[in-house]
Amino acid sequence: MKIALGVTGGVAAYKAAELVRRLQQEKLDVQVVMTRSAQEFITPLTFAALTGKKVITEMFGERDASPANVESAIEHIAVAQRIDLLLVAPATADILGHFAHGIAGDFLTTLYLATKAPVVVAPAMNVNMWEHPATQSNLAALRARGVHVVDPDEGYLACGMTGAGRLAATEAIAKKVLSVLGLRHDLEGQSVLVTAGPTCEDLDPVRFLTNRSSGKMGYAIADASVRRGAHVILVSGPTDLRIPESVDWVPVRTTEEMRTAVLERCGEANIVIMAAAVADYRPAASQAQKLKRGDAGLTIELEPTPDILAQLGGNKGGRTIVGFAAETERIAENARAKLQRKGADIIVANDVTQEGAGFDTDTNIVTLFLRDGREIPLPKLSKFDVANRILDQILTLRAS
Ligand code: PMT
Repeated sequence: MKIALGVTGGVAAYKAAELVRRLQQEKLDVQVVMTRSAQEFITPLTFAALTGKKVITEMFGERDASPANVESAIEHIAVAQRIDLLLVAPATADILGHFAHGIAGDFLTTLYLATKAPVVVAPAMNVNMWEHPATQSNLAALRARGVHVVDPDEGYLACGMTGAGRLAATEAIAKKVLSVLGLRHDLEGQSVLVTAGPTCEDLDPVRFLTNRSSGKMGYAIADASVRRGAHVILVSGPTDLRIPESVDWVPVRTTEEMRTAVLERCGEANIVIMAAAVADYRPAASQAQKLKRGDAGLTIELEPTPDILAQLGGNKGGRTIVGFAAETERIAENARAKLQRKGADIIVANDVTQEGAGFDTDTNIVTLFLRDGREIPLPKLSKFDVANRILDQILTLRAS
């Protein structure tokens, strides 16, 4: 993931170098942006050496209309779109005031206005400046706007005074960044097997039965699990999606291939999440040659496919098994029936007729059905957030 680290002008600016290192340990790609006054305290060269990247120090380059300069003039937009988070540490009273009032006079303030990524600020300043009503009211405005604030520590300050205003510890800032990015490490040591996408059942060498699954839900679960520290095996039907980093990707096509892969690999997993839209039926016989067109109608005999989830649910061992239910009617009744029939610990039911839910959307609206009778409805969330809520529930179950 990519983050921009804004460094502003305070004595604590040197601590931003240690912060860069700490964030890199979390495999975050850090682009440093410095204000003019920050450069009075520490040189861009330090950050360039640490990140291996040019540090952004100016809004505009030379005064010419060369393509390179035009590019640099709109670079804040490109950076704004590229980053997953903007962190400002140390954040001076001045930068908080600019952010709070939307005054965009340099690269960092313009980046703040231009980005839709979450913003974290770690203020550091003299105690009187920190306590000043203007600073506190700017912070309140920023907090109300969703900006995350890592409050400064109390202690001896560079100005010789004692009180609140010292930049928070590197670890506290890193922890906030990871939590805002959804990068908790609470699945470390766990192995998660996820199924995703559709399966395809051949009628003949050129035609097959399939469904509308894009794989987005399952890939989001794989992605979220990896980010939280799990080892992930992703058994995937055909999709156009980018394979999430660091997953053990097992491509399959048919239900039979998915079943073989899941049964072969489930021994390695203590959590199995079946988000794939597995075909319930397949042609009883696949034709070796392309079916020819004729004048009469064509009837194709279908047979049920093996139920992979039910097979796993019948032989759970110490595993937590989560199934999905794609429903179009009587959601709760059908989901509860699946919970029992398939022996799952949780069924994640989605009404695929709802706007923003189900197939090939970036969001989903689900209810979690648990074996103890609880139903946990979730609002419309991105599939990544749905994935994290499912993982939270799995961890709660495993801890009880
Ligand atoms: O991939 P997306 O475009 O992001 O869409 C997401 C989704 C709609 C596919 C997903 O949210 C979802 O609902 N997945 C389950 C789809 C499905 O097959 O539901 P089902 O109710 O038919 O099956 C119930 C459960 O049994 C599922 O966990 C399924 O993986 C499993 N199953 C089904 C049939 C079969 N032969 N073997 C199985 O293991």
